[in-house]
Amino acid sequence: MCGIYGAIVSNQDAGSVVYHGLKRLEYRGYDSWGVVVTRAGDFFIEKQVGKIDKNHQLSAPPAQVAIGHTRWATHGRVTQVNAHPHLAQNGSFALVQNGVVENYQQLQEKLVSQGYDFISQTDTEVIVALIEQLETRKHETEPSVATVRQVFSQLRGRNTIALVTQSGKIIAIRQGSPLVVGKNKQGDIFISSDVLSLAPDANEYFILDHGQGVIVTCKKIQPFVVKTGKKISLEYQPIKISSTALDTAGFDHFMLKEIYEQTEVLNNVTEQPQKQLTALVTEIKKANRVYTLGAGSASFAAEQLAFWLREQGVLTTALKSYEARSYQNLFSSNDLCIAISQSGETADTNEVVEWLLQFGVKLASIVNMPGSTLTALSDLPFMLQVGPEVGVASTKALSGQMIWSKLLSELIAGKTLLAYQKQVQEYSKQLQNWFESQVIGQLQSLAKELANHKHLFVLGRGQLYMPALEFALKMKEISYIHAEGFSGGELKHGVIALIEQGTPVVCLVAKDKEKNDMLSAAAEVKARGARVIGVSIENNQLFDDWIRLPKASELVAISCFIPAQLLTYYMAVEQAYDPDKPRNLAKSVTVK
Ligand code: F6R
Repeated sequence: MCGIYGAIVSNQDAGSVVYHGLKRLEYRGYDSWGVVVTRAGDFFIEKQVGKIDKNHQLSAPPAQVAIGHTRWATHGRVTQVNAHPHLAQNGSFALVQNGVVENYQQLQEKLVSQGYDFISQTDTEVIVALIEQLETRKHETEPSVATVRQVFSQLRGRNTIALVTQSGKIIAIRQGSPLVVGKNKQGDIFISSDVLSLAPDANEYFILDHGQGVIVTCKKIQPFVVKTGKKISLEYQPIKISSTALDTAGFDHFMLKEIYEQTEVLNNVTEQPQKQLTALVTEIKKANRVYTLGAGSASFAAEQLAFWLREQGVLTTALKSYEARSYQNLFSSNDLCIAISQSGETADTNEVVEWLLQFGVKLASIVNMPGSTLTALSDLPFMLQVGPEVGVASTKALSGQMIWSKLLSELIAGKTLLAYQKQVQEYSKQLQNWFESQVIGQLQSLAKELANHKHLFVLGRGQLYMPALEFALKMKEISYIHAEGFSGGELKHGVIALIEQGTPVVCLVAKDKEKNDMLSAAAEVKARGARVIGVSIENNQLFDDWIRLPKASELVAISCFIPAQLLTYYMAVEQAYDPDKPRNLAKSVTVK
């Protein structure tokens, strides 16, 4: 959450380079943005509330050095004053933060009692004030690295910062949220919150670890350890991502592009190293307890994996990252945890991972974003390989997580990787035909009809229970409709009280042992006036509307996501909402 971009370039275009870098980071937060350039000892700051307009011309003068920030508000409302960068009151530096200073209240109270007059409501200004105070005490004209390190040691929480000084030096420190340093052949230097955003500017990068920092001047890049100040050297890696992976490729939105990409990228998910898969299967079989872990949509994939593993006789517990604390005393060194995350930077998930590792639990993970914290912490790290997912809502990443989860359960059941790869290839073809069929038009018309409804329910059972929860989540986050997902079995225990004449109820139905019970649930809501929207491979007389799914019944749980993604996408477009940047959300949830 929040994105940081910085540049030291030779062509005086730093402001615009940073602005466009922020546009690529906007998925991390888009409440407000700000850019500061420094030139001949002066700072020029532009901050605005709202999203980044790619045609906007920055008012900043030409300069070689700039940093910027795109905000997802934590402390302080979404206002221009609260947008970063924050300029020191003595005018010697400007600073941005990605994260939260957890002890900001204590620090703020002390600063106020010492006479500091806060301008914003942010926790970030506390960092600015502390640096400024120490700098004055040390009679520095601008903050030294030692001063920044000293202040940083007083901060609690996950807080990555970057500041630019009057003389054009950038000092950045990573704690929690990622920080990447890149350079190009012309010697231009960049810092960013992710590798993807660097792709158009840089061709090499290194990632700072937690507790590491970097000083960047026009001549030098010097990484260091924050605690000791010791200089270190970090190895550069080539940036392999093509910058075209970051455009909408003719689609109206990233979300739509990413939905359609599923016909291809799901095959990449099955291209996993056989040896490592075998090692994971061995670990699953020999573990005392198996946990699966994730947050939000990834938690649904984690629950689905647990479901499929239980079906194979492996007792598995699914943990929601934000509700895992009560399990802490149960973790032991003979356990295995499989963590699922698109970004690999979700604070809730990574916090649980840290607990697990303290107890010696073996960690496997499946992550999409290259170079993530979660991957680095894992004993058995797997890459999802569905390509950059820019739309804030998880679409192809979640389907990929499910394809990978199913792979594990199939391997345990004795199927070969090759056989599963063929199955997914066949599925991709069916999906392609499905996208070309009249079902798309049907979803568009249904979206028009449903867009004005206030409430919607989604029912599923067994393997389609998690897809029902995900369907409802997509409705909430993209179409802003109050939607709830339930097990078809839960209905009569209370939920049915909410059904009225015309209430839309989506029923996910598979050809499995749950089918008859699920159809009974559909009949019960229909008898109370609900409009039953069946999502299934075959039609049923109970359905008022039928969304046909691709034939592959073994992968029906994955198929159910796709109409959910399209329906919610079209509903958002219908209401003129931005499906790529739903309100109040951000893609990488790096705060707790
Ligand atoms: C929903 C969505 C979120 C994420 C969740 C975890 O569409 O995208 O619920 O799934 O924030 O994020 P990752 O997968 O990066 O750990």
